[in-house]
Amino acid sequence: MASIELRGIEKWFGNTEVLKGIDLCISDHEFIVLVGPSGCGKSTLLRIIAGLEDPSSGKILIHDDDVTEKVPSERRLAMVFQSYALYPHMTVSENIGFALKTAGMKRTEVEPKVREVAELLELASHLDRLPKQLSGGQRQRVAIGRAIIRQPKAFLFDEPLSNLDASLRVNMRIEISRLQKELGITTIYVTHDQTEAMTLADRIVVLNEGRVIQIGSPRELYSCPQHLFVAEFIGNPRMNIINCSNNNGQLSLGLNDVAKISFSQPKTNIHKLGLRPEAIRVVGPSKGILEGRISVCEYLGSEQLVYIDCGLEELLTVRLKPSDQLREGENVGIAFDISDAHFFDSVGRRLNETS
Ligand SMILES: Nc1ncnc2c1ncn2[C@@H]1O[C@H](COP(=O)(O)OP(=O)(O)OP(=O)(O)O)[C@@H](O)[C@H]1O
Ligand SMILES: [Mg+2]
Repeated sequence: MASIELRGIEKWFGNTEVLKGIDLCISDHEFIVLVGPSGCGKSTLLRIIAGLEDPSSGKILIHDDDVTEKVPSERRLAMVFQSYALYPHMTVSENIGFALKTAGMKRTEVEPKVREVAELLELASHLDRLPKQLSGGQRQRVAIGRAIIRQPKAFLFDEPLSNLDASLRVNMRIEISRLQKELGITTIYVTHDQTEAMTLADRIVVLNEGRVIQIGSPRELYSCPQHLFVAEFIGNPRMNIINCSNNNGQLSLGLNDVAKISFSQPKTNIHKLGLRPEAIRVVGPSKGILEGRISVCEYLGSEQLVYIDCGLEELLTVRLKPSDQLREGENVGIAFDISDAHFFDSVGRRLNETS
């Protein structure tokens, strides 16, 4: 178990700069999730940490030891991929124990360790099966078992659950969270799935185009996004973003001045206003800040999502209680508290004074 520090990691593939100076300090025991759009450099960064790829510049420290020049086996990190990469001709037991066997450990020593790991992962009754005789979730657990048995300093996961169906993903997510807490192993986990990011992470690192945009707890990123990119990336359904401008104590909403709000905040460079779907209330016609017509109602059982056309550039998404009776085509008013709004300037930086 160990802390991991990245200092100024850059990576060029030919003439393309894929990582543009990544600095990150990960504490011992911490669960870090890397998120960001496809191609932003998540897997490349993980491979650089593992030693499978060299950085063009920068340093990697594990437990204060500079490992930048060290080969993967000297780093003692365990990587688990989306494709489980199990040996098809070996049993579960042989797959889990493989690393110890190749390290020269005796069979009598390997066996109890394999059994211990298999019990931890609820695989004890499947030890004699081949990978093809297992479900996707079981295969993924074998891959994790193979990583755990080496007692790595840290786990590196690259989208480990994306091959699994939705319900299995939830089970495995809970399983990984439980295991990580139980073993206390520092973990770096890459995912596209923001529910995974929000539920697993102590801290989330949001990457875009090879740069860190924000690092924070799931709560910090959701309630106080420092950049428009994070505001739109974290949260499902995503935050409503309304074009706006601040003139003479009035905030105009929409490119065509759909509505005006008196507004005392002195900042004049407001370009976007963000509202979470749950920060918006639907009121009677002419009783809100904006007027609109309900375009679509989506009833989801525990909540409903209502999409409202207010003449803005995009429909507003509103999260309401399932008991609210609303009809598509109905005219409504839209209300919200200005204190719930997030403000961003023309380059996407957060403008709220406090939050
Ligand atoms: N070996 C390589 N040679 C050239 N370009 C590469 C190589 N590996 C990755 N890239 C490029 O680097 C960029 C980052 O790739 P990377 O695989 O790190 O993205 P990612 O964030 O993991 O994306 P995804 O979410 O789709 O897995 C991409 O534009 C990719 O095309
Ligand atoms: Mg990737």
